[in-house]
Amino acid sequence: MAQVVVETQDLTKTYDGFTAVDCLSMRIEEGEIFGFLGPNGAGKTTTLLMLLGLTEPSGGAAHVCGINPTREPLKVKRIVGYLPERVGFYEDLTARQNLRYTAELNSLPRAEAEEKAASLLATVGLSEVADHEVNTFSRGMKQRLGIADIWIKDPKLAFLDEPTTGIDPQGTEDILNLIAGMARRKITIIFCSHLLPQVQKVCGRVGILAKGRLVAEGSIGHLGGQTAAGGRYRIEVEVARSSPGLISSLKRLKGVQDVQSAGGSLHIACDKDLRGEISRAIVGNDSQLLGIKIEEYNLEKIYKKYAREA
Ligand SMILES: Nc1ncnc2c1ncn2[C@@H]1O[C@H](COP(=O)(O)OP(=O)(O)OP(=O)(O)O)[C@@H](O)[C@H]1O
Ligand SMILES: [Mg+2]
Repeated sequence: MAQVVVETQDLTKTYDGFTAVDCLSMRIEEGEIFGFLGPNGAGKTTTLLMLLGLTEPSGGAAHVCGINPTREPLKVKRIVGYLPERVGFYEDLTARQNLRYTAELNSLPRAEAEEKAASLLATVGLSEVADHEVNTFSRGMKQRLGIADIWIKDPKLAFLDEPTTGIDPQGTEDILNLIAGMARRKITIIFCSHLLPQVQKVCGRVGILAKGRLVAEGSIGHLGGQTAAGGRYRIEVEVARSSPGLISSLKRLKGVQDVQSAGGSLHIACDKDLRGEISRAIVGNDSQLLGIKIEEYNLEKIYKKYAREA
């Protein structure tokens, strides 16, 4: 079983009688990219601040890798990389000098720090401007440097607070790719955003926060309420002849999570667009493809509904 790395129980934060985070209970497992979705003022940043020990909960409890952030904030900071909404660097230092400084704070040996800084600057596409002062950087460049800055300490977790705000489409794509890259390196990620399409692109599971309350939580497919098996796409095929053999070959396709037979149709839940592979499997099983439809889970409707209701 995967290790639970973030756990909150009835976590609550009130400011002068106003409840910013209201009895939040959630669990995030190692290796997940968890999308923390919610409109402005929902309580996302406040939650992160409590997980980091930067603000004290008014009620409930939080644990990050078993550590209570209020009691041991330094321990938590050692294992978590935090990219705040407004990322702050030493503006008159270069990108490389900023990374070097972070590496030093995290006690990385000098040679390793240099090597890592150079390799991460390349990963985030800043090699050419590595020795330029940060005050010459655009917002997108600063965000990418921010990602390198948390990555250099090899965190167990990364908390990214609206990392793509104010970034153009190409820059956004770059950041989403970097987030996926961090996850491949086994860094668990909490990605806060109010932008559903982005969360949908990279996150396996989301929690929707509205007015401080967690109104929905689960895998994208599960939240769609259309299948218990998950999967980002639902492909519906009409076949001339369905057979147990066909169903089991479809189930064996890489990326297929579930196949349900309904009348003359097969409903296939999968995590990518497998129309080509599915068509071939049908023909290969001596059946005939009469029609094929693909639908991506539309979380937007759900998000809007919950955000309105809360
Ligand atoms: N220090 C504070 N004092 C008083 N109220 C606060 C404080 N910090 C946050 N709040 C309030 O708590 C609520 C949640 O704020 P929070 O910043 O956590 O939301 P958010 O989901 O991060 O929103 P955004 O998408 O705008 O960043 C808001 O109503 C905000 O005004
Ligand atoms: Mg915020």
